[in-house]
Amino acid sequence: MPRNETIVAIDGPSGAGKGTVARALAQELGYRHIDSGAMYRGVAWQASRDGVDLTDELAIAALAEAAVFAFEGDRIAVNGHDVTEAIRTPETDVAAASVARLPAVREALVSRQRALGEDGRLVMEGRDIGTVVFPAAAAKIYLDASPDERARRRAVDPAHASGRTRALADVASALEARDTSDRTRHASPLTLAPDAELIDTTGVPIGDVVTRVLSIVRSRLGGAPSAPAG
Ligand code: C5P
Repeated sequence: MPRNETIVAIDGPSGAGKGTVARALAQELGYRHIDSGAMYRGVAWQASRDGVDLTDELAIAALAEAAVFAFEGDRIAVNGHDVTEAIRTPETDVAAASVARLPAVREALVSRQRALGEDGRLVMEGRDIGTVVFPAAAAKIYLDASPDERARRRAVDPAHASGRTRALADVASALEARDTSDRTRHASPLTLAPDAELIDTTGVPIGDVVTRVLSIVRSRLGGAPSAPAG
């Protein structure tokens, strides 16, 4: 399989720093940034809105195929609705991990994600980007951190606050349940690709993580252009 010369895959569990790192990388390289988790969240949001049972695989796969996703900077719209905040609630955390277990839903979203990478120059973050979506990505990074640290980060992340304060213990147990679901599901579980660079971000300031990842990615991209053409 030919390498996707200008595709960067960032994988890892929740709270490992993927979002911050992927955004910074895309900015530095002049690439597009896509958060694939927002697509699973968007499908879960649409299913809840339509009253579709979250175990109805075919109905949810049909929603995933038909959904119109619009990415505008850090904002995402699904079928014309800006859902940026609505998809970051604790309820959507659970619903997204649930629909992500369904093979037909994954198949639909993976094909949408590959289409987004057709022109290259993309940093995509998720759980299966380096293993399934773009196995030939030029650079693959797997970010991890201790469960305690990931829960602490998630508890203070304003994107996930949804106007509520949650006890750290609640955040930690919800995170653990979701991680277990992501790591043990049959369809594309979260795993480290053999050719991915594993980076443990526990106790490392996020700025230092970005610097390190950027240097690895630049060396993997080799001569690929990093600034937007024209
Ligand atoms: O990354 P984020 O936490 O927003 O993703 C929400 C959920 O979507 C994850 O818990 C996971 O179940 C699912 N997901 C996935 N594959 C991806 C991205 C996200 O299964 N590539």
